[in-house]
Amino acid sequence: MIRLAFPLMLIRTRKLDQHLSMIGLHFWSSVKRVKSKSWSQVYIKVLKETLLRHGYRFESDTDTEVIPKLAKFVYDRLSEGTSVNGEETQEVTFSQVVMEVMRQLEGAYALIFKSSHFPSELVACKCGSPLLLGVKDAAEPEMKMDQFINNDLLHDKRQGRPKEYFLASDGSAVVEHTKKVLVIEDNEIAHIKDGSLSIFKFDTAKARKIGGVPRPASVQRALSILEMEVEQIKKGKYDHYMQKEIHEQPDSLTTTMRGRLIRGGESKMKSVVLGGLKDHLRTIRRSRRIVFIGCGTSYNAALAARPIVEELSGVPVTMELASDLVDRQGPIYREDTAVFVSQSGETADTLQALEYAKSHGALCVGITNTVGSAIARGTHCGVHINAGCEIGVASTKAYTSQIAVMTMLALALGDDSISSRIRREAIIDDFFDLPSKVREVLKLDIEMKELANLLMEEQSLLIFGRGYNYATALEGALKVKEVALMHSEGILAGEMKHGPLALVDETLPIIVVATCDATFSKQQSVIQQLKARKGRLIVMCTKGDAPSLCSSGACRFIEVPHVEDCLQPIINIVPLQLLAYHLTVLRGYNVDQPRNLAKSVTTQ
Ligand code: G6P
Repeated sequence: MIRLAFPLMLIRTRKLDQHLSMIGLHFWSSVKRVKSKSWSQVYIKVLKETLLRHGYRFESDTDTEVIPKLAKFVYDRLSEGTSVNGEETQEVTFSQVVMEVMRQLEGAYALIFKSSHFPSELVACKCGSPLLLGVKDAAEPEMKMDQFINNDLLHDKRQGRPKEYFLASDGSAVVEHTKKVLVIEDNEIAHIKDGSLSIFKFDTAKARKIGGVPRPASVQRALSILEMEVEQIKKGKYDHYMQKEIHEQPDSLTTTMRGRLIRGGESKMKSVVLGGLKDHLRTIRRSRRIVFIGCGTSYNAALAARPIVEELSGVPVTMELASDLVDRQGPIYREDTAVFVSQSGETADTLQALEYAKSHGALCVGITNTVGSAIARGTHCGVHINAGCEIGVASTKAYTSQIAVMTMLALALGDDSISSRIRREAIIDDFFDLPSKVREVLKLDIEMKELANLLMEEQSLLIFGRGYNYATALEGALKVKEVALMHSEGILAGEMKHGPLALVDETLPIIVVATCDATFSKQQSVIQQLKARKGRLIVMCTKGDAPSLCSSGACRFIEVPHVEDCLQPIINIVPLQLLAYHLTVLRGYNVDQPRNLAKSVTTQ
């Protein structure tokens, strides 16, 4: 039996906007003629036009529709006895059709083919996008982890017991059926026929070179066991995944820290152990630069960690939004350490930036939440954040665990410095208090709901932060934007006078993050200036600091517990996550699947 595991992380075909289509020379000549347009437009347009010329009709404007039509075209040509290259063929097989389609496609995709011409068969393949195959053996639930999968093992008839296969882009979609999975690699083809599974490697590069389909090589692969529990993908007592994941943060942070922070022992030294990086710390310390690369929330998490990484490592840190790095083809050197931050480990832009950094010889470090993801596999070394499965599209617990891991990275990099020892030990001490402090800040839930009630009709919300909490401002605004569908902007408070001040009046709500750190007095001054313009202020401050920031009645406060400055963003984001959550519910929008957004953006 074959099941497609569709919930949430459903298998989807990728947009074909980068696809190089070349069914014979005919396509190539068309491509040359329209080269002045952007490549992506050209390829898909040419492919579609050619199929139209062959009498195919399209029901939608989606690029995806082109693939099944192409498969049909290939099948018809092969069945006529002439391959697309003019060579004679014998019996047409389903895998042969798929291989020919793969030869024509370029870019990232994950595809599952079903056809009435090949009943009881299914062929899946991928390139760039994630695809995994779950295997459930009803009669023999326990299968050893190191057991190798090959065509014999998965042959139902030989084994005489039923098997179920699941195809999905993420483990969370299959875990309730089976934990045994096989990650399909790029250019592999999984062919299920009459309950038997075969996996082949198809060399698309060679196929293009020789202009035909070379004989695919059968591959042996080990099954892996998903480190995930079914409970993790259930909402439990919560109404939404986002709500659950916000409230899980004391636990997810505990898991992130587990076994990595050492306090006490004989030497009484406090230190950090990051197993996945221990052989690379020297290289990272000697880097010319550390370049943090990510998208969305992952980028913001890296931004929050940047000051402490710079402080403790002494290595300059630059920030790159993955898409921008690739667009600019920005400089990356052999002496750089490129750190790729991604919850899913599958974001297309980050993956492309990874390939780019690798090709420039940089040491590539992955920080992901997904074991076995493309970024985890493609980087030279890395750390898993172990935040547990995150299902809500808006990232919450992964953000706080990412900051925690990157702060641990800073501690590990600074481990050889005597002068920063007191500072490092103070941070490690506060790490241990973090789960209880997050628990404390979660008690602001009702207060944040009241605030959401006050703000729910607003058009816009500004959030000012600086230093460690510039990231808090960006991430808070991103949460409000993506789920509550309210315009919101995170602003570096130091830039206030260079434009944003013009927006300030008595109607526009503004949150100012002014918790206690080295920038506190500057934030006091920002608050004074905003008040002087009758700004509608909500001030996030450390417990007890409210009177020194604003006379009572003039502002509303969100009071949070104090931790070391570099850990404060982990505390400060929680009320803003709660605010975004409640705003979304009150405004009646979909919390877990905001319109137009996806959990992992595997297209560009
Ligand atoms: C999408 C998600 C965001 C996420 C971003 C980066 O835009 O909606 O929540 O922050 O991708 O994802 P990654 O998996 O690379 O962290």
